Amino acid sequence: MRAWRISLPTKIVIPYAPRPAFLPFHGRSKRWACLVCHRRAGKTVACINELIKAGLSEGKKDGRYAYVAPQLSQAKDIAWSYIKQFTGALPGIQYNESELWCQLPGGNRIRLYGTDNADRLRGLYMDGVIMDEYAQHDPTVFDLIIRPQLIDRKGWAVFIGTPAGHNKFYEIYQKSLGIWENEDGTKFDNAEWFSMVLKASQSGLLPVAELEAARREMSVEAYEQELECSFEAAIKGAVFGREMKIATDDGRICNVPYDRNAEVWTAWDLGIGDATAIWFAQQVGREARIIDFYMSSGVAIDHYVRVLKDRPYNYARHLLPHDADKTELGTGMSIVEQLKSMGVRNTRVVPKLTVSEGIEQARKFITRCYFDQKKCYQGLEALKLYRYEYSDKLGIFAKRPLHDWSSHPADAFRYLAIGFKPESLNAAPIKYPNLAIP
Ligand SMILES: Nc1ncnc2c1ncn2[C@@H]1O[C@H](COP(=O)(O)OP(=O)(O)OP(=O)(O)O)[C@@H](O)[C@H]1O
Ligand SMILES: [Mg+2]
Repeated sequence: MRAWRISLPTKIVIPYAPRPAFLPFHGRSKRWACLVCHRRAGKTVACINELIKAGLSEGKKDGRYAYVAPQLSQAKDIAWSYIKQFTGALPGIQYNESELWCQLPGGNRIRLYGTDNADRLRGLYMDGVIMDEYAQHDPTVFDLIIRPQLIDRKGWAVFIGTPAGHNKFYEIYQKSLGIWENEDGTKFDNAEWFSMVLKASQSGLLPVAELEAARREMSVEAYEQELECSFEAAIKGAVFGREMKIATDDGRICNVPYDRNAEVWTAWDLGIGDATAIWFAQQVGREARIIDFYMSSGVAIDHYVRVLKDRPYNYARHLLPHDADKTELGTGMSIVEQLKSMGVRNTRVVPKLTVSEGIEQARKFITRCYFDQKKCYQGLEALKLYRYEYSDKLGIFAKRPLHDWSSHPADAFRYLAIGFKPESLNAAPIKYPNLAIP
């Protein structure tokens, strides 16, 4: 296999020889690409080199290229050493360790980001973006922040990863194949898409004996998902996997409009220096209707008060985590007091339960929930993805769920499940007359 040669004033050899499976990807001419690849296929290495190639050869002035992982720490752990490995031989290459960018000869830059730190992405333009492990990303960040950044300079994007059920990555994959149905019933036009699936049984990249051992040690579903690229396998260790599948099969993820005759309860997970997530729920008959969801980060509490006020809802209660009445160091006030000072009085701090007790309550609660699929899209994706961390080394799931973008909506949902007690459900038991039955 010949290593890449890219023309610079002196001939420099980048120590990357593409694996044959990735040659069609590197040679594509389409603006958008979706690569569904098995674990250890070499997808991150291929994508980093795609960025380097683009940065050196696309001829853009002040070109900006990005590698985006679900978490910034992940981007740093995985991609930064690959960036250095493959750019180290370039003359005049510069690295910025704190901001995680490298400047290529000619001035174009490649920078690492995480969608957990979406604020860092705002206000930029992009010429090319890799969204690695896309099934694990907060699905709203690309649509709301990154896609607009690609407009003015006609940038490109690559979505790459292993499947995690029917989530946004599945949608992208279906779009790339041209089998996605638009809202008006027409088929999505995939003329500008490159699509590729690489299963371990076909790629020949991993030793057969290793694959056989993995098949023996992993659950059927985990193997199918991670090595055979199955979107149908349930997400490995999904905390609410079963309940969310039943809700989908029952048709309870649908159009759920606001009912003006019922009050709205909210439940918050408050992130200090992290994301804050809010669910909006109504009780109508026996149904818990989850009508809305909101999440943001990097903003002060008055932002969330505005979010409440901007919605036309008639609020009953705002459920807050158990530590919301503790005084904060910076302000000298608790969250409850801060909200009160901004006019949000009807708060209730939910009782402190362990995470697993809260999960049990949430599992039961989901069985009577109807979710609005549009307004709750981000929250629903999080509930489907929220999962126990799996240790490949030990072959077991961790006791606590993984902390990533999905844990904030999931935590807020636990608080909703614990504290959502509208009066209609809480009514005192009916007293029957004493019939003198012993
Ligand atoms: N073209 C290549 N030539 C030689 N080694 C490679 C090549 N591509 C990848 N590798 C090696 O294969 C291993 C897996 O690569 P990489 O991290 O890119 O895989 P991945 O598909 O992103 O895996 P994961 O699913 O774990 O994220 C690494 O050790 C990497 O150095
Ligand atoms: Mg990878």
